[in-house]
Amino acid sequence: MFGRRSTSNAPATTPVPAGAGAKPAPRPTTGGAAAAPPRPPAPAPRTGSAARGQVSKDKVDQFNLLKMRLHRKLIDQLDLTRMVGEEETLREQVKELVSQLADQENTLLNFNEKQRLISEVLDETFGLGPLEVILQDPSISDILVNGPKQVYVERRGKLEITEVQFRDNSHLMHVIDKIVSAVGRRCDETCPLVDARLQDGSRVNAVIPPLAIDGACMSIRRFGADPITWDDYINFKSCTPEIRDFLSACVKAHLNILVVGGTGSGKTTLLNNLSTFIPDTDRIVTIEDAAELQLRQPHVVRLETRPANIEGKGRITIRDLLINSLRMRPDRIVVGECRGPETLDMLQAMNTGHDGSLTTLHANSTRDTVARVETMVMMAGFDLPVRAIRQQFASAINVIINAQRLTGGPRKIISVTEVTGMEGDIVTMQDIFAFEQLGVNGQGKAFGQFVATGIRPSFLERLKSSGCEVDPGLFQRKVLVTDDSE
Ligand SMILES: Nc1ncnc2c1ncn2[C@@H]1O[C@H](COP(=O)(O)OP(=O)(O)OP(=O)(O)O)[C@@H](O)[C@H]1O
Ligand SMILES: [Mg+2]
Repeated sequence: MFGRRSTSNAPATTPVPAGAGAKPAPRPTTGGAAAAPPRPPAPAPRTGSAARGQVSKDKVDQFNLLKMRLHRKLIDQLDLTRMVGEEETLREQVKELVSQLADQENTLLNFNEKQRLISEVLDETFGLGPLEVILQDPSISDILVNGPKQVYVERRGKLEITEVQFRDNSHLMHVIDKIVSAVGRRCDETCPLVDARLQDGSRVNAVIPPLAIDGACMSIRRFGADPITWDDYINFKSCTPEIRDFLSACVKAHLNILVVGGTGSGKTTLLNNLSTFIPDTDRIVTIEDAAELQLRQPHVVRLETRPANIEGKGRITIRDLLINSLRMRPDRIVVGECRGPETLDMLQAMNTGHDGSLTTLHANSTRDTVARVETMVMMAGFDLPVRAIRQQFASAINVIINAQRLTGGPRKIISVTEVTGMEGDIVTMQDIFAFEQLGVNGQGKAFGQFVATGIRPSFLERLKSSGCEVDPGLFQRKVLVTDDSE
């Protein structure tokens, strides 16, 4: 059920300093790392009520006490200064020591219990403690820790409670501290909100008391472990080959594209996939709050924002980076998300020769998007009439793609819309492709069909003159794919 432990030098979950990037860590092939020793059987993050109650609470408490005792003894006895070598070697040495310490205990443990004990003490020592077992499961996309005793995960679009628990709040705080200190940040009463990132690109947000009333909370958005590709989009019926090919032509022809959707709807994943269509010859500048994009092109400059320091100074925003990027001769600018004053700068950049730029924006629907942009621009204090903002928008954006997480979990591209211009004070748009939801099935999952709406985009000539011609037959009104999967 679980993937194998990472064979890289550092565990997949080791936090890395901000700016070190979300590209997959190089995997050394020396020292037998390519064939790491198999991990002892680890307990599954038991989910659901059936699994709960299998082990009596007393037994769990005893096990945890024993684990704590061993961990403490281990720390007392370890002389890290004398321990040298690759992590796998260190793990082996520590494993041996834990095994000896476990034998010295008076508690009777069967083989499986002993292996589990060793594995959990190793997780505490080298990884993120109780979270390690979840982090090794590639089917888990989000990990949501609500205080020390409640950990939810999202798998295939559905939230599930797990039986993973921390000993207490200070145990959880220790794990949070381990993550954030590795990226040069801290999380304490003066700084109770913090963003960080794990080496595999997973995005981490922590909120601690007093802001989090019931104990520290942590949200981890898994990323990079098993990235979603265009093939997945087609297999999951998140999109159709026709829509993919159309989007590919739009990106190659330097149209400006905006991905919109709600929280966790798949905007960043889509942006990542759209970027795969950018030719290798272009110079790309990416700008993000937390580096999640994984561009594979050779000529990419990656920029990441920086929070203020303890004195409240030195903050570098998306807007600062965007303005700076214009002096870096980009062919394409990819901004992870526009959510503040940078929105207007992004529109201006798109209007002033930086065609082919891509970004995302939080909006509940395509129709909502213009109003969201107006609000963001006005809240940023720019004194512009609404009509001027709309004009900027209409002339900057060519295509809006709406990503949504539908009832029951499936994530889909629910519309691909062309922005055609302005009529009076109104920004005009037309849907080219759409997902028509027809209902919700017995399992509570949305079903429906992808359709070509019958409308031909007005930029077909532009696609053609850029060498990205698409078959006009693609736009004839028809059902492309029906999704009625269970
Ligand atoms: N088409 C898809 N099918 C299945 N899972 C998907 C799909 N697209 C994205 N996901 C998963 O959904 C989760 C959220 O995706 P993503 O981070 O792209 O969303 P987002 O809209 O950018 O979220 P946020 O608003 O938090 O920035 C990720 O775990 C991702 O792997
Ligand atoms: Mg995102």
